[in-house]
Amino acid sequence: MANIILRPDWFISDRHVTPEKIHENRREFLRRMGLAGAGLMAAPMVAAAAEPVEKAASAGPKLYPAKRNPEFNPNWALTEEKVAGSYNNFYEFSLAKDKVKDLVGNFVVSPWSVKIEGLVEKPRTMELEDILKISPLEERVYKFRCVEAWAMTVPWIGFPLSKLIEKLQPKAESKFIRFETANRPEQMPGMRGMKNYPWPYFEGLRMDEAMHPLTMVVTGIYGKPLPKQHGAPIRIVVPWKYGYKSIKSVVKIEFIDKQPTTFWETLAADEYPFESNVNPAVPHPRWSQATERIIDTGDRLKTQLYNGYGKYVANLYPKV
Ligand code: MTE
Repeated sequence: MANIILRPDWFISDRHVTPEKIHENRREFLRRMGLAGAGLMAAPMVAAAAEPVEKAASAGPKLYPAKRNPEFNPNWALTEEKVAGSYNNFYEFSLAKDKVKDLVGNFVVSPWSVKIEGLVEKPRTMELEDILKISPLEERVYKFRCVEAWAMTVPWIGFPLSKLIEKLQPKAESKFIRFETANRPEQMPGMRGMKNYPWPYFEGLRMDEAMHPLTMVVTGIYGKPLPKQHGAPIRIVVPWKYGYKSIKSVVKIEFIDKQPTTFWETLAADEYPFESNVNPAVPHPRWSQATERIIDTGDRLKTQLYNGYGKYVANLYPKV
């Protein structure tokens, strides 16, 4: 296991894409987080996957499809694209999973910018185009497990969130990250119908979870830019946690020193706690988490601790 964690040979070196100054800052940040020595983020080469970033960014539509990262190229059957795209939790539009795709039409996802606030050296507003320049995009086939006990296997396209964080240069006091979704009731009909919810949707991660190489900034799926129902144009994906941690359509990223509350925690703290790692041994108060239903085939499979990603992330949670 140590080898896998210490030498993730699927990691694309940011030396290919990051100016030296940023690389230095990154090293300093990792040192403060105590990660540099562990080599967790040490980045061996998968040179072939790393297109020069200027070229990638200026190529526009050519960003998709992206090259699949060989580490995340399992021989699992992918969930049918159409099924994944018509079975969505995106409460800003509807509680009915099959209706979301039909209600996203008025949601404007271009232009798009993300506000960076809080304990960072350079708070700023970043345009989506600039975020796409941070790292070459890659495809990763991940399992995705919703707290409602359904699951899918999808090819996300994006890059590790750590690359964005390093660029932003968090201050030493920064221990958590809080994310926020767009707040546009005029374009998001579900928000108008559900006035008692604490909109806009918000989520959070510990800094080490956010920095973990599995945590992705996602801008595409199935070889294309993200459809609106999946959280266009930019979302977070944390594959070892229940799906609600994977916040959609992000407009704000805040660096803070205390654990933030989250949308679902605010509504029911005993059902949706902050950490929310996939764990078949801990039932949801109202249902078992021991198994999961695959949304296209209907198969029922045993749920795995950390959604099967324990070899990568178990070391983040020494007490379990
Ligand atoms: N993000 C926002 N802004 N609003 C939501 O309602 N639902 C979450 C998560 N991110 C949600 C969200 C939940 S419960 C799940 S399971 C996943 O999105 C679903 O992602 P998918 O529709 O792309 O499968």
